[in-house]
Amino acid sequence: MVKAQIFQPLQFRHLIVKNRIFRSSVTGRWDNYNGSGTQARVNWENKFAKGGVGAIISSYAPVSIEGRITPNVVTIDCDERIPFWHTVGETVHRYDCKYILQLSHSGRQRDIEGIENTLTQADGIEPKPAPSSTDEADQVNGLPAIKMPTPKVKEIVQDFAKAAGRAKEANLDGIELHSSHGYLINQFLSSAINQRTDEYGGDLNNRYRFLHEIVREIRKVVGDNFHLQAKISVREFNNIIPPWQKSGNTFEEAIQICQWLEEDGVDAIHVSRGSTFPHPLLPSGPFPLRMLRYTYDTMTSSGGKASFRNVILFRYPSLWPIFQWIWSRLPRKVESRYEQPISGLKIEDEKLDEYFREHVSTEEFQNLLNKHQGTVLRDAKEIKQNLKEIPVITTGGFQQASYINAAIEGGYTDGVSMARMLVANNDLVNKFQSGMDIPERPCTYCNDCLGAYLELPMGCYNLDRFYQRSIQNLTGEERDKADREAEKARTREVMTVFDPPPKPYMPPM
Ligand SMILES: Cc1cc2nc3c(=O)[nH]c(=O)nc-3n(C[C@H](O)[C@H](O)[C@H](O)COP(=O)(O)O)c2cc1C
Ligand code: SF4
Repeated sequence: MVKAQIFQPLQFRHLIVKNRIFRSSVTGRWDNYNGSGTQARVNWENKFAKGGVGAIISSYAPVSIEGRITPNVVTIDCDERIPFWHTVGETVHRYDCKYILQLSHSGRQRDIEGIENTLTQADGIEPKPAPSSTDEADQVNGLPAIKMPTPKVKEIVQDFAKAAGRAKEANLDGIELHSSHGYLINQFLSSAINQRTDEYGGDLNNRYRFLHEIVREIRKVVGDNFHLQAKISVREFNNIIPPWQKSGNTFEEAIQICQWLEEDGVDAIHVSRGSTFPHPLLPSGPFPLRMLRYTYDTMTSSGGKASFRNVILFRYPSLWPIFQWIWSRLPRKVESRYEQPISGLKIEDEKLDEYFREHVSTEEFQNLLNKHQGTVLRDAKEIKQNLKEIPVITTGGFQQASYINAAIEGGYTDGVSMARMLVANNDLVNKFQSGMDIPERPCTYCNDCLGAYLELPMGCYNLDRFYQRSIQNLTGEERDKADREAEKARTREVMTVFDPPPKPYMPPM
């Protein structure tokens, strides 16, 4: 019975989630510039709770303005944010869905720094070097960083603790530390990034100290019974773009970090990978150049050393093969080393929508699934086997009920988290519940949503999923019409996040 494992509740030390599917963090930029939340965010989270997920992990919530990755993402940096988060929590609780707030600090890895994180110089505005464990700029955008002084480290530890207290006060169900994907905590953990020579740098013990202090101070504020999990990149693969970079922590070091977290009182590990975001291996799939051509120009003024180069590379399709080759170099190497752990679950034609199949054949989709589903599972199993009792949640490409069931049954993971698959099919868990194994118009791992994030409302942008009729034997004009209809359907779907619209605020007389 496909549903047997997926719909078993998952018991953590102090939290029970009704099934094994978590909505993984997906950032959308629809909040206010000052970090206050909007109705669109509430609507967004409501979609997934209504769609049946057991728990939602919020998109990254900055613990300070200085730690935000872009503006227009709701923060948890002050008490004024508590009522908004309370509303979000109450909204999803109506569906018996739990809400876990992801506490985050960008460190050096920002996309758009925002005016608060800039310096005004005689010759113009420049990005302020972001507090980090290194003086080296980030790999993707090249925004500047500075090895912060120790009092600043202590201050940020307290920012995390205060943010955790606010999440508890907002009656949310738990918190997740964004300690993966190259953001600040990962910058400390990583042997490839951390350049400090004090008690926060050097050997693993020292590199772990920042995270250890964050967990300890959070526990002081929220007590022992408030759910706390950590997302960890158990393989960093830091040598992505310049191959001369160090690759990062060993897998044995990652296991040790997870074991220390368990000893320190963390309730679950969310297994992920990659020392940057995005990374060629997560979210897996191509680099979304056709979308970034349209959206990345917003980074031109960011002042990042690599931003202008990227704008040029992304702008001209004739240059794309160079970038795509660089981006897929690592996956090519890694794929030959990692076999798909769960195989033999075949998709039949009739499972997929007939119009969708005109764009992506069953065979092509089967290959995509084999390549991208469960990419981190083998590592998750090893992490799980090296922990005493806390559950493991795994991210990476899941969208097939029988596969997820087999992963849990096979002891690879206790639960799975989904990001893009739920962006494509918000109600995927309800579909599983009704007996569907794979959605009729599945996510194709194209990463257009990822490319959209900088400038467009978050949603699925893959046109192949939105055709309303057959494109067989159409004249040029008819085909054009079919494309326009698909575009309209896509826009309608993306814009549902603004329904209901925000209530206008009337200032007091
Ligand atoms: C548009 C987008 C935004 C994301 N934002 C976050 C984030 O804020 N925090 C985080 O930990 N991961 C973030 N992720 C990563 C996902 O949570 C997830 O770990 C990754 O996409 C792999 O899962 P998937 O294959 O189900 O998409 C994001 C992914 C996408 C595509
Ligand atoms: S744009 Fe749609 S199909 Fe492409 S990765 Fe995102 S959700 Fe999946």
